[in-house]
Amino acid sequence: MDQHYSYEEVLSASERFAWRVEDLIGGERRLDFSKLFLPDSLARTEALDFLDPEERRIVNQIRGLGYLYTFGLVEEFILPFVLDHVRSRLNEDDARVRAFLSFASEEAKHIQLFRRFREEFENGFGSPCGLIGPPDAIARAVLSHHPLAVSLAILHIEWMTQRHFLDSVEDDQALDPQFKSLLRHHWMEEIRHAKLDTLMAEAIAASCSEKERDEAVDGYLDIGGFLDAGLAQQVELDLASFTRATGRRLSEAEREAYLATQRQAVRWTYIGSGMSHPNLLGTADRLCPGARAKLEAIVPTFC
Ligand SMILES: [Fe+2]
Ligand SMILES: [Fe+2]
Repeated sequence: MDQHYSYEEVLSASERFAWRVEDLIGGERRLDFSKLFLPDSLARTEALDFLDPEERRIVNQIRGLGYLYTFGLVEEFILPFVLDHVRSRLNEDDARVRAFLSFASEEAKHIQLFRRFREEFENGFGSPCGLIGPPDAIARAVLSHHPLAVSLAILHIEWMTQRHFLDSVEDDQALDPQFKSLLRHHWMEEIRHAKLDTLMAEAIAASCSEKERDEAVDGYLDIGGFLDAGLAQQVELDLASFTRATGRRLSEAEREAYLATQRQAVRWTYIGSGMSHPNLLGTADRLCPGARAKLEAIVPTFC
């Protein structure tokens, strides 16, 4: 074991540091559309040098909408998965049951927060933006994989959230304070999820055969491939949203450059930054021997 987390510790933190949706969004707390929403390490809009600064800011904001929408999407499969996991052993450990129920409750709260955010975005942005979905179809496809593979995908998402906030959001003073506040509050709760998901993956792996452990990494990569295909569609939708918002028609070469840059930007944002996280690699390799080498060989495609 290279990580030691306990249900008691996570439960205690979730009781001490909780926030309410209504304290974060609505009323005076408005998005400022004159500002950037995402750091450029995730948005990569500075590379679109054929756009002027205002156009790049609009692409950045469209990516900001997609960012929180994508979290809402994945939370729609995390929530039932966590509930199924806790339900299988309700009588063994009170702290475990309560910690997983608070995990599920926080994800339900995040889904609600990100829906509210989407309404505010759509009201303030000025033109409609396309989004992939529907969430329940995506959730069904992901949950059809082996539970160990799903738990690795969820662990990837939780560590990825930590990395984004700490590496590039926290110290970026150019971002809209309201958007940044949503990211900060989400990050605060996701650290507990990362710990619980580590415990969840360990518990699932303990009841798996060697063959199931071997295959779980391929299942995790299948889920990644499925999400990657959805994200490629989102990039096309984002370009259509940009064209609607600005009226700017890109030349064929500009369009190709936009799609290639943004395709790689979303690959890093949602796949590479999670797959290469040391804690994801550490847990995956401990539970599924050989996982690290396999994942490290694939990561460069998503950077
Ligand atoms: Fe969340
Ligand atoms: Fe989470």
